[in-house]
Amino acid sequence: MSYEVPKNDKLLKWVEQVASLCEPERIHWCDGSQQEYDELCSLLVQTGTFRKLDDQKRPNSYLAWSDPIDVARVEDRTFICSLAKTDAGPTNNWMHPKQMKEKLNGLFKGCMRGRTMYIIPFSMGPLGSPIAKIGVEISDSPYVVVNMRIMTRMGSAVLDVLGNGDFIPCLHSVGMPLAPGQPDVAWPCNSEKYIVHFPEERAIWSFGSGYGGNALLGKKCLALRIASKIAKDEGWLAEHMLILGVESPHGEKTYVAAAFPSACGKTNFAMLVPPPSFVENGWKITTIGDDIAWIKPGADGKPYAINPEYGYFGVAPGTNVETNPNAMASCASNTIFTNVALTPDGDVWWEGMTKEAPPALTDWQGNAWTPGCGRPAAHPNARFTAPASQCPSIDPDWENPKGVPISAFIFGGRRKNTIPLVYQSFNWNFGVYLAATLGSETTAAAVGATGNVRRDPFAMLPFCGYHMADYFAHWLQFGRSIPRPPRIFSVNWFLKDKDGKFLWPGYGENMRVLKWIVDRVQGRTGAVESPLGWMPRYKDMDWTGLNVTQEQFHDLTSVDRDVWQDEILSHEELFVKLFDRMPKEFLHMRELITSSLWRSPEHWEQIGDVHPEGWNE
Ligand code: GTP
Ligand code: SPV
Ligand code: MN
Repeated sequence: MSYEVPKNDKLLKWVEQVASLCEPERIHWCDGSQQEYDELCSLLVQTGTFRKLDDQKRPNSYLAWSDPIDVARVEDRTFICSLAKTDAGPTNNWMHPKQMKEKLNGLFKGCMRGRTMYIIPFSMGPLGSPIAKIGVEISDSPYVVVNMRIMTRMGSAVLDVLGNGDFIPCLHSVGMPLAPGQPDVAWPCNSEKYIVHFPEERAIWSFGSGYGGNALLGKKCLALRIASKIAKDEGWLAEHMLILGVESPHGEKTYVAAAFPSACGKTNFAMLVPPPSFVENGWKITTIGDDIAWIKPGADGKPYAINPEYGYFGVAPGTNVETNPNAMASCASNTIFTNVALTPDGDVWWEGMTKEAPPALTDWQGNAWTPGCGRPAAHPNARFTAPASQCPSIDPDWENPKGVPISAFIFGGRRKNTIPLVYQSFNWNFGVYLAATLGSETTAAAVGATGNVRRDPFAMLPFCGYHMADYFAHWLQFGRSIPRPPRIFSVNWFLKDKDGKFLWPGYGENMRVLKWIVDRVQGRTGAVESPLGWMPRYKDMDWTGLNVTQEQFHDLTSVDRDVWQDEILSHEELFVKLFDRMPKEFLHMRELITSSLWRSPEHWEQIGDVHPEGWNE
């Protein structure tokens, strides 16, 4: 222990309680220093959790391979334990807090035997900022400590700011006590997992997993599930959103926030590098955050957003110097890699990092791997933990405690059909409707089947700490309460043709869509009215340097009426599920969209389907 134990009554009492419940061998108060980080990394190397990567190729970086039963968030083991079941809503797992505490007290009893209990004070948001929230995570995982030091502002400075004030207690155990003399394993965890939130008490208990959002409790558990509940009570928003800035040749800077479900492109979009012709003309993208936004109404009537995090826990597969050079630079050093493959010369590799795979690797399970062996070298949810400050596109205001003014919200899922490339909702209410009915093909970011379309309202389905319909109502109310609500847009980078090939090049080329969005916000470009909202015509977008024909644009922006009838029916499924608290506005908006889809049938027959060239200007 390198500093005095804090004089915080609640904290001292809680630490004492947890110690007597979990029975750790020793207690370590984390000071957050580089020395402590280095020592813990060395310890992790000794115990076999970490492998130090080559210091030339990947300075000060480590690789961890998890247990194959612990590779992603476990949504079916995640609970919102509000006092009343109806307050958690039908989209969350629920158990009565009293019953859950009994269950957890049993599981946590003696669960840290033979291990060190780490006390990790952390701040979500700039240290000392009035909108930051302080949490303290108690964990028996040194892997969690070193990841938390990258992902949050962590250590004794947080306790100085905390003083005798309040904090959010976050208790974590990998759930694998060691008997005397029992050797440890490289990735301790338990097949029984519980990720539990008590929204009224504002407390988090997590058992059995050491991976990502299950274990780094500042991220999904505190900054989304608990914070969304606090935000609802206090009139602000805690969202699963990236935040980026757009500098244009016209001289202004526009900030937007975008919600895409897990592994659907937030990190990529947040760090977007525009195509060469855009850069030459003076377009520039800056990054504030890649996963979470806390948004509060400002005095000028605009909402202001901060990124509560301090690092990136980014998806590795698919990331490379072409798709995301800024992410590659961010994880060039001082990074922890989890579940990627190891190269013979002590560096890392994952699917999509280079066009050709290296001839031989060690895969994420420690087995020899060669191209064509039929197994992926990296787990599809392999990740890097990298300091945000290392991102070349980081915005000068990324730590500004005031936040940045948001002019547009963007929502997008992974949809191979149905949802056009981009449209702007007619107004705030229709925007809330489009966000609430967001659908996406499921990804490897959570355990379960991948590739099926599921409704993921606001990309918050796994992260909303209360009844989802109350959350919709909160968004409607938020728009009514600010004089200048941002414009709301829908995007879809994932349209495919009938052979399964992407119709849209994506990545840096998404700048073309973002430019149209910014031009709309700034009142600089035209659009046409579609049944869903405002859409660009071919001539409204800048195609310099990219060969997208009018015909391809047609495919990217078509709205197929038959397909949309099914889509609307599946909105209905969500509404039925949430009916006890569904905002009444939604039924009307659904009817209005259906009505627009039915408009002028002769017109539909004439052009086969609906596309921008045929619509009213
Ligand atoms: P979480 O961290 O899980 O919340 O996810 P995220 O939304 O930050 O996901 P990320 O940006 O890391 O994207 C993950 C996957 O999406 C990678 O496999 C990328 O290759 C893919 N991806 C990102 N942007 C695009 C795009 O514009 N087009 C296509 N086709 N794929 C993309
Ligand atoms: C997500 O799944 O949305 C993530 C990764 O950002 S994790 O932190 O593991 O939840
Ligand atoms: Mn996320």
